[in-house]
Amino acid sequence: MRIVVTGGSGKLGRTVVRTLRDEGHEVVNLDRFGERESVTRVDLTDYGQVIDAIAGVDDRHSGTDAIVHLAAIPAPGIASDVETFHNNITSTFNVFQAARRLGITRIVYASSETVLGLPFDVPPPYIPVDEEYPARPESTYSLVKHLEEQLAIELVRWNPELSITALRFSNVMDPDDYAAFPSFDGDASLRKWNLWGYIDGRDGAQAVSRALANAGPGFERYIIAAADTVMSRSNAELVAEMFPGVSIRGELGVNDTLLSIEKARRELGFAPEHSWRDAS
Ligand SMILES: NC(=O)c1ccc[n+]([C@@H]2O[C@H](COP(=O)([O-])OP(=O)(O)OC[C@H]3O[C@@H](n4cnc5c(N)ncnc54)[C@H](O)[C@@H]3O)[C@@H](O)[C@H]2O)c1
Repeated sequence: MRIVVTGGSGKLGRTVVRTLRDEGHEVVNLDRFGERESVTRVDLTDYGQVIDAIAGVDDRHSGTDAIVHLAAIPAPGIASDVETFHNNITSTFNVFQAARRLGITRIVYASSETVLGLPFDVPPPYIPVDEEYPARPESTYSLVKHLEEQLAIELVRWNPELSITALRFSNVMDPDDYAAFPSFDGDASLRKWNLWGYIDGRDGAQAVSRALANAGPGFERYIIAAADTVMSRSNAELVAEMFPGVSIRGELGVNDTLLSIEKARRELGFAPEHSWRDAS
């Protein structure tokens, strides 16, 4: 496929671009930053630039089969809340709108685990968390991720051929990040905010690839996390210490992810291959 990736200069985007190219796709990266050879510089808050660059860019591409939209200010606190809201919602609306106008019907984009209720100052309704309970955004960043999912729901209602997949990524990690993981074990509260979850960037890229290949028309949301937690301590111990009283659904497993990836496994064929436990 000819694929436009937005945010392909970023932490997750770099791995996604590499993975999709390795799989044989033609990939164009639209980002406001990046080395000249590896990016077409676009400010996604400018609709004119967005629709033009998705339709074609001289010497780079002349048409797009699918869009992977990753560009965003990627967490609360990096910019002012107002800047995060304006940048992220405007970029996503512009990308979705350009796709509509250009007749592109396959979109995979980055939502976030934050809509599950991070940092869980209010405990989750049950553990492991899944996609079945209403979003609980607790920051402006997360609010935008929620609103984008709502936007997608309406757009696919308008066009039954349109496929939009929201990947609710956990905290993205590169192999270099794993050296710090053993230090988490001493204090259960350190990573309690996302139920001790993470996603290896390479597995994040796999999820993008599987969604591009397997998502049907309509809108779906999927939690995308590693198969395990960041901790050596057992889930039973962590949950008892940090979330007493929260109901447990099914078997927790000793270190299995508490961000359920069952839906992504079942419907997308997502199968994470990387764990910090294997890194040396
Ligand atoms: N990093 C995480 O832990 C995490 C977790 C869940 C979801 N996500 C989501 O995944 C996506 C990628 O995150 P990341 O960690 O790679 O972030 P990143 O900051 O490393 O990369 C994001 C890229 O988007 C670009 N960008 C932002 N606004 C832009 C604009 N207006 N025009 C053009 N380019 C713009 C930036 O230049 C950057 O290269 C984001 O949507 C983020 O919200 C990230």
